Amino acid sequence: MKEIVKKLSKLPNWLLLSLILPLLALSLSEKGGYILSKIEIPKVWTDEAMKTWELPNPKPEYSPQPVSEEYYYAMAERTIYRSYPVYHPDHEPEGYWEWLQSLEPEVVWDPSKFITEEDWIKAGEMLFDHPIDTLGAILTNDLVRNPDFYDYVEMPLTPEGIMPFSRWVVTGKGRVRVGNLSCGMCHTRVMPDGSLIKGAQGNWAGDKASVFFATEEGFEPDSDLIRSMGFLMNALFGSPWSDGDPHGKLVSQGFDAIVNAFQSVPIGTFGRQGTSILFAPQAPDLIGVKDRKYLDHGGLGQHRGIEDMMRYIAMNQTLDVLNFYGDFSPLGIPRERLIPDRPIMFAGTHDRYSDEQLYALAKYVYSLTPPENPNKPSALSEKGKIIFAEQGCVTCHTPPLFTNNKLTPAEGFEIPEDHYEKYDIFDVSVGTDPNYTFNTRRATGYYKIPSLKGLWYRGPYLHDGSISQLEDFFNHERLQEGWSPKPIKGHEFGMYLNEGDRKALVAYLLTL
Ligand code: HEC
Ligand code: HEC
Repeated sequence: MKEIVKKLSKLPNWLLLSLILPLLALSLSEKGGYILSKIEIPKVWTDEAMKTWELPNPKPEYSPQPVSEEYYYAMAERTIYRSYPVYHPDHEPEGYWEWLQSLEPEVVWDPSKFITEEDWIKAGEMLFDHPIDTLGAILTNDLVRNPDFYDYVEMPLTPEGIMPFSRWVVTGKGRVRVGNLSCGMCHTRVMPDGSLIKGAQGNWAGDKASVFFATEEGFEPDSDLIRSMGFLMNALFGSPWSDGDPHGKLVSQGFDAIVNAFQSVPIGTFGRQGTSILFAPQAPDLIGVKDRKYLDHGGLGQHRGIEDMMRYIAMNQTLDVLNFYGDFSPLGIPRERLIPDRPIMFAGTHDRYSDEQLYALAKYVYSLTPPENPNKPSALSEKGKIIFAEQGCVTCHTPPLFTNNKLTPAEGFEIPEDHYEKYDIFDVSVGTDPNYTFNTRRATGYYKIPSLKGLWYRGPYLHDGSISQLEDFFNHERLQEGWSPKPIKGHEFGMYLNEGDRKALVAYLLTL
């Protein structure tokens, strides 16, 4: 020891400091992890960053205009209460409901306790399952305590009878509310054996839930209900500048047409706000999202680093209903009403995630890994791998990510000249249904090239979930009249393989 001290004393001070400082930063935490120096949480919602983060609308004058930095940071941060699992009423443990009533609310968010990266990821997982709405945006207490509702939506459950898409939130003693709009509500998958894949494309009929009441015998919608439905449709999906104003038209067709639209949304796709109940997008698999350059099927949000992911999460947990699009406001509010000290109330828009909460959520989403793939490479899949290369799939779905991370123009989109410098574009249209990316508030004119990883545990496929079986995707009959429920156009690759080759290609895709 003496020797070491003697040697060190001969070193100049600057060298000594540079040796000691990293040691301090790497001091041991109580839990045996290391403190990776103080984590710097990026400030997410700055006027400067918000200006260029999203791609423009194909009609640029209707591009999203987010609320100002001042408004954003004046909103209250979300309070995160402890939440509890929701059981199917027939599987609820004895006395559970009464026990929930007896609980005091408990705030469970305390970033001062997070030391290691794992602490942040764990906190992010808790937030992932934390509902941001307890006012009944989709699920209500009555619904989830009614066994008929579970039958109606064919709700997938875990082996314990837990409905994993929501949680009970205790916001006050005796105030037990079922929550809505946690990430897990749409990004949790229950596999056929009841196991869960968190972050994967969700698989319950969220939009069908909203119309359960309409099936009650003798139910007659009154004029108040129809008016509030019109408001809701506009808030969620209105984009009156779109060609033919599809949502304006739907609302004018009346109650039954609206109910029918909600009922027709395929499981695995959701009428997320800003998209469309008529062209509802697939809930993407979040496993692997860290490597994707664009977020949303149209690539609306750029993804250049963790700040962009944090922006995406902040925006999409309903802040986007406060956007202006030209002079259009989804909530029908005048611009002057957007003042920092009087926040607007609409499903989770009156509060916001703190930057720390966004950081934790992003870290968690980045940490997701796929479950072990049961489909091991075989002679058949090896043959499929060759077909995958021969058919040119690799140009767009390039290994190892199985996407070249580029945007393709939708059929009929004329790419503005300046986009070639700003964005990564692969200038070939695959010709799928362009409605989502032309006629919604999230429209960009593009579809991004999705990764093909994890195809085995997800589906339905394509941006609109129109393909339920991979075999069908490579069957040219799907292009023609007579395909049920309707022909599916576009993406005419690998369409004319013989049956053996098609089987081999699908076998290969299922190993990814
Ligand atoms: C109501 C359902 C719903 C909820 C709640 C929800 N999402 Fe999503 N999410 C979607 C849908 C649908 C899309 C596709 C949107 C599109 O393409 O327009 C999506 C897209 C995404 C994407 C873009 C991924 C990609 O590859 O393009 C990310 C990241 C994401 N969600 C993360 C989250 C997180 C984190 C939360 C919680 C804070 C959350 N989502 C809550 C349904 C939901
Ligand atoms: C020119 C680029 C391009 C080529 C070549 C291409 N794809 Fe695609 N692929 C896309 C785009 C873009 C989409 C998304 C389209 C949409 O959602 O509307 C897609 C979607 C898919 C999907 C659905 C993925 C999901 O998550 O829903 C599969 C599966 C797929 N492609 C497989 C293939 C195979 C196999 C080949 C070769 C036979 C191939 N692709 C060739 C661009 C391409």
